[in-house]
Amino acid sequence: MNKEELIQQEYIEKARAYVAEYKRLIGHEPSSCVVTFGCQMNARDSEKLCGILEQAGFILSNDENADLVVYNTCTVRDNANQRVYGRLGALHSMKKKNPNKKIALCGCMMQEESVVTFIREKYGFVDLIFGTHNIFKFAELLCDMFSSDEMVVDIWKDTDEIVEELPTKRKFPYKSGINIMFGCNNFCTYCIVPYVRGRERSREPEDIVREIKKLSCDGVKEVMLLGQNVNSYGKNLDKEVTFAQLLQMVEQIDGIERIRFMTSHPKDLSDDLINVMKNSTKICRHLHLPLQSGSDRILKAMNRHYTKEKYIDLALKIRREIPDIAITTDIIVGFPTEEDVDVDDTIDVIKKVGFDNAFTFIYSKRTGTPAASMEQVDEATVKRNFDRVLKVVQETARNAVSKYEGMIMDALCEEVNEHDPGLLNGRLSNNTIVHFAGEKDLIGQIVPVRLTECHGFYYTGELCRN
Ligand code: 5AD
Ligand code: SF4
Repeated sequence: MNKEELIQQEYIEKARAYVAEYKRLIGHEPSSCVVTFGCQMNARDSEKLCGILEQAGFILSNDENADLVVYNTCTVRDNANQRVYGRLGALHSMKKKNPNKKIALCGCMMQEESVVTFIREKYGFVDLIFGTHNIFKFAELLCDMFSSDEMVVDIWKDTDEIVEELPTKRKFPYKSGINIMFGCNNFCTYCIVPYVRGRERSREPEDIVREIKKLSCDGVKEVMLLGQNVNSYGKNLDKEVTFAQLLQMVEQIDGIERIRFMTSHPKDLSDDLINVMKNSTKICRHLHLPLQSGSDRILKAMNRHYTKEKYIDLALKIRREIPDIAITTDIIVGFPTEEDVDVDDTIDVIKKVGFDNAFTFIYSKRTGTPAASMEQVDEATVKRNFDRVLKVVQETARNAVSKYEGMIMDALCEEVNEHDPGLLNGRLSNNTIVHFAGEKDLIGQIVPVRLTECHGFYYTGELCRN
C-alpha cells in the first residue's frame, strides 16, 4: 500500500467510530443508498463508494429512504443535471421528516463551480459535496461530514493521484468494470468531460492485470475495460504500452472468459487492435465507436479529427475483418450550425455502416465548452432532424440485429427478467440481450441459447440444454 492508501485505511476505521455513534443517535443500523447517474465510469465509482460505506458500517440499500443517500452525478447533458435537482427536492421532503438523514453529492456535476454555488444557495440541506478527483478519500470526507454541522465541500480541480487499493462492492458477482485510464485529452468542442474528469492518466498495466486476476479468483467471468478513449491507453506511461498490448495481457488471465471495453475514439483505432480482436477468443464481438456526426464540416467544428469517409472506411474494414462484430455508436443531433444537409450525411453513414444500435442525443449546450459560444440551432429543426435520424437508426438496427435469428449463441445469464420472473436476461458476445426461460441458478453462467425471435434491439430465445 502507498502512503495515501494507508491514510485512507485509517480513515475507514475512524469512519466506523462515527457510524457507530450515528447508530446510537438514530436507534437502528444505519443504511445508505448510492444512486448512480450517467456512464459506466460512474457505475464503477459507485462500487468504490459502496465498498467504503460497507466497511464503515453502513448497510447498503437501494431505497432513498436510507439514512445516508449519495447521488453520484453526471453532467454530460443538461437533462442529467435537471434530474438531480428534481430528485433533490424529494430528498428535502424526506429530510424534513427525518432531520438525521444525511445527503451527499459527488461526481461530474459537482466539478462545475456554478453547480456548487447553486446548491449552496438553493439546497442548503445537503451535508457533503465532493468531486471526481477525490472519491478515494470518501472515508475521510464521511468523518468530516459527521463532525461538522455545516455543509462540507471538497472539490479538486485535477489530480495526478491514482489510488489503487480501495475497497469496492461489486454490483454483479460475475462481471466487473475496471478503470484502465481516467480523464480525457480530446476536447471535443461540445463535451464537458475533459473539464470535469481532468487530463488523461493511464494505470500501469501490472496494476490492471493484478486487479483482474483478483476479480477472476472472486468468480468474475466478464471484464469491461473502462476509459473515455481506450485507444490512447498507455501513451503517458513511462514505459509505453498500447491498448492492443494491454488486451493481450488481459487475454492471458485464467478464468476471464469475456473481455469488453468502452469507449473507442475512431481517430485512434489501430490495425493492431483490429488484429488482436480478430484473433481473440475472449474479446467480445462488439465495438462501440462514437460517430457523433457524418458531416465533415460538423466533425471539424466538433474537433473529432476524422472525416465521414475515414469513419466509413474504418467501420467497413472492421466488419470485413471481423464479420460477426456488432458496431454501435453515439450520434449528436443539433450541434451548433448543423443544417439538414449535415444530417443527411449522418444518415448516409448510418445506412452505409448499418449500426447494430445507436444512442442518439440532442445536442446540449455545456457552459465553458467552445461549442456553447457557436451559433445554436433552433429547437424545431433539431426535433425534426432528431426524428429523421432515429427512424433510420431503428431500421438499420433491426436489420443488423435480426441477422442471427434462428442461430444458437452463447449468452451470459445476467439477471431475472424484471417483467417476467420465469425469464432470464442473457447477454450475447455482441452485446445483444436475449430473454429466455431459465432457472435463477444459471445466473453468472455462459449458456447456449437459440435466438428464436428478434424484437428490434433484443431477442427472445430458448435455452439449449445438453
Ligand atoms: N450534448 C449532447 N450529447 C453529448 N455527448 C457528449 N457531450 C454532449 C453534449 N454536450 C454524447 C456524445 C458522447 C456520449 C457519451 O454523450 O455522443 O459520445
Ligand atoms: Fe468527450 Fe470527446 Fe473526450 Fe469523449 S473523446 S469524453 S466526447 S471530449
